Formats: sequence, structure tokens, C-alpha cells
Amino acid sequence: MDKIRIRGGRPLSGEIVIGGAKNAGLPLMAAGLLTDERLTLTNVPDLVDIHTMAALLAQHGVAVERPLAGGRELSIGGPISNTEAPYDIVRKMRASVLVLGPLMARMGHARVSLPGGCAIGTRPVDLHFKGLEQMGATIRLDGGYAQAEAPQGLHGATIVFPFPSVGATENLLMAASLADGRTVLANAAREPEITDLAECLLAMGARIEGVGTDRLTVDGVRRLHAATHAIVPDRIETGTYACAAAITGGEVHLRGARMDHLAALVRALDEAGVEVVERPGGVTVRRTGRLHGADVMTEVYPGFPTDMQAQYMALMCVSDGAAMVTETIFENRFMHVPELNRMGARINVHGASAIVRGVPALSGAPVMATDLRASVSLVLAGLAARGETVVNRVYHLDRGYEAVEQKLAACGADIERLPG
Ligand code: EPZ
Repeated sequence: MDKIRIRGGRPLSGEIVIGGAKNAGLPLMAAGLLTDERLTLTNVPDLVDIHTMAALLAQHGVAVERPLAGGRELSIGGPISNTEAPYDIVRKMRASVLVLGPLMARMGHARVSLPGGCAIGTRPVDLHFKGLEQMGATIRLDGGYAQAEAPQGLHGATIVFPFPSVGATENLLMAASLADGRTVLANAAREPEITDLAECLLAMGARIEGVGTDRLTVDGVRRLHAATHAIVPDRIETGTYACAAAITGGEVHLRGARMDHLAALVRALDEAGVEVVERPGGVTVRRTGRLHGADVMTEVYPGFPTDMQAQYMALMCVSDGAAMVTETIFENRFMHVPELNRMGARINVHGASAIVRGVPALSGAPVMATDLRASVSLVLAGLAARGETVVNRVYHLDRGYEAVEQKLAACGADIERLPG
């Protein structure tokens, strides 16, 4: 298993190109199942999860082509010959469940492995199932698989989410686009990745009102057609490298970043003493003075993103004060805490909150990645720590960050990958 070795203490300086969002690319690829015609996606990031989703679509018989080898374009289309999402793929990537809505809308049946738990929480998919049942599907559990049937096809329904689930909103939005009649998704999630998916569906001929709000109204159409769609820049990759610039006391230009997707993070960074400025074509992040402690609480969009919690906590470890970091979305998303504490951080967890008391400096150490965002928070800590840090199990990192060591090394970090 690959490791990443970092020798810390070097302020970052330079430019990092922000790629397409992993959490938009995955549902957008699933949307390719909604039509026999070709859906072409551009600005596609080169990530393990994207390749896993491509393998899953191929499993359904759909052609997934990268016209230019190593290019950033994916072309998806063709008839579906298999409606099963097998355990050996789903267990590697929970987002596989996003094929359920499109398969039910196109084929009227699907057999999708239950994703099972994951490091950050139990992460059930009950809201996905309940919504499809309201649209006329019957779903029974069979040997760890959800066996879903809708012999008469899906019909519109009014679905009120008890919690604005990102994945459930995406699955049901895709299902509703081909359902018979009108579907209303109330208390829907509003993440930019959902807006990106809705804009792609509109380009494919879907009829959706309320894009960007928590109430989506969809009038199903008989079929969707070919489209080309550029994946929205990754706001979490943007926030991650913003924290890298801040934690090293450097200045980095994030090319392609969308300032309008970062409001909650920018408010916290501003309070912490980090300068975030919108520039033509991107965002520049700089920290010259001391870092101050600033509290955050994760919330659904447009609140502070849970996917930025671990990275922000690493930053607070070297502030000149204290910060309360509260995680309200997942029940077990503090696995980075014991690893950061091994590097000399002073973090105490009480239930859903962690109190971080800043220390003058972290010390490099061998640490263990446990999940995608926890692993990158350890890289950030290593960039600031005295001495050498070796992050183990970086396969977690490769799921959601493209060329992380190259991007950081190009800005002056002393970082390299040690083949495992
Ligand atoms: C998406 O996961 C993202 N993944 C996650 O990013 C992100 O953390 C999460 O949204 C929240 O923003 C992708 O987009 C591929 P949810 P998702 O459904 O759809 C509960 C990363 O690091 N819930 O909004 O699974 C669930 O248990 C990943 O890139 C139910 O109870 O998130 C959780 O506590 C990690 N029943 C909360 O809602 C359901 O049916 C948020 O889940 C669905 C969800």
C-alpha cells in the first residue's frame, strides 16, 4: 500500500488547478443510464471513485468511453443489459447506490447491493428506498441486496425528506425525470453538486423547476436525449488546498475555484485570520499573520460542509487560540483526531463536538488514514509539522484527490509518494 512522506515547515506558494467535483461526477455518470443516447461529460477528474463508477456502468452494459486517453472527457451511452449493482463494486463505493434511481426509471427493476456501513457512519439509504416506494416501486431485501420492482413503471409523488439527504435527492431527482407525472421533492438538499446534476438533466430534456432551492418540482418526460455537460469545480478540493495555504502560512492561487460555493468556509477562514480573495478565474488564499481559533458547526449546504471538517480541524490545531468543531451530519467523523493528537495536537472530543486547543507547532509522525477526508487532513498537518510525517493507507486519498502530491510539490511542499 502506498504511503506519502512529507517534511513540513515550508510555506506554499504558487498555483493549483482545481478539478471537476467528485461528488458531482458520480451522480452525473449515473445520469448516463437515463438515456440510450450519449451523455458526454467534460472536466472529469481522474479519481479512483470515477473509475469505479465507470466499471459499474460497464457492468450494466453501458459503453463508457474516454475519447482522449487520459483526457478529461467521458462519453456514456447505450442500452442497459444488466440491472444488478454487485456487492464487490458497491462495497468499494457507496455512491454506487446512485444507479438505483436511473435503473428503476429506465428498466422498472434493479438489484442493488446494500452499501453497508462505512468508517464515518452507518449511512443508511432508507430515504432512497422510501422515495422510490412512494413512486410505485416495491423494494425487498434479499441476501444483502435491495430487489426493486416497478412493473407499471414509476409515477410522480410528493416526497418530503425528513433530512435533506444529498444522495436521496440525487437518486429521486433522476428517477422523477422519467416518471409518469409530477414529483415534488420537498426539504431537498441544495448542494452545488445537486444543482449541477439538475442542470445536466435539463440539458438532456428533463423538466425541473426550483433548481438550487430545497423544493424541486419535476414533470417526468418519456425519454431524455444526448447532452454535453462540464462538471462543476470541486468546492471540497478547493477548500482543502485553501487550508493547505493557510496552515503553511503561504499564498496559493486556486485556478477554476468558484467563490460562490465557499461562503461558509470563507466566513470561518476569515475569522481565523486567513485571506480569501476572488481573482479572475479563481480564488487566492493567503495567510501572513497568526491563526486565530474560530468555531464551526457542520451543516447541510449552504452551511459549513462536513467534508471540510477534518481539514479545518487540522488548521485549528496550530491556531493561537481554541476552536469548537461540531459535526452534525455523520455520527463518527472524528477518526482523524487520535492521529492528529499523535502529532502533538490537543483535541478533546465530547460527543459531536471536539475542542481544539492550538499548539505552537505539530511534530511529524507516522499516521494512519482511515477515510478520504481524514487522510487529507493528516497531509495538511504534515505540511505544517516539524520533521517528517508518513501517511499510511493513502488509497483513501486517491479516491477523491487527483495528483495531490504533485499539486502540493509544485507549490513548494517537500512531499513524495512511497510505493507500497
Ligand atoms: C454525500 O453523501 C457525499 N458523497 C458525502 O461526501 C457527503 O459527506 C454527504 O453527501 C453530505 O454532504 C457523495 O456525494 C458521493 P447524505 P450521502 O445522504 O449522499 C443520513 C466525501 O467525503 N441518511 O446527505 O451519503 C446519513 O446517515 C463524501 O466526498 C439517512 O439517514 O450523504 C448521514 O448521516 C463522504 N438515510 C446523513 O443523512 C438516507 O437514506 C447525510 O447523508 C440517506 C442519508
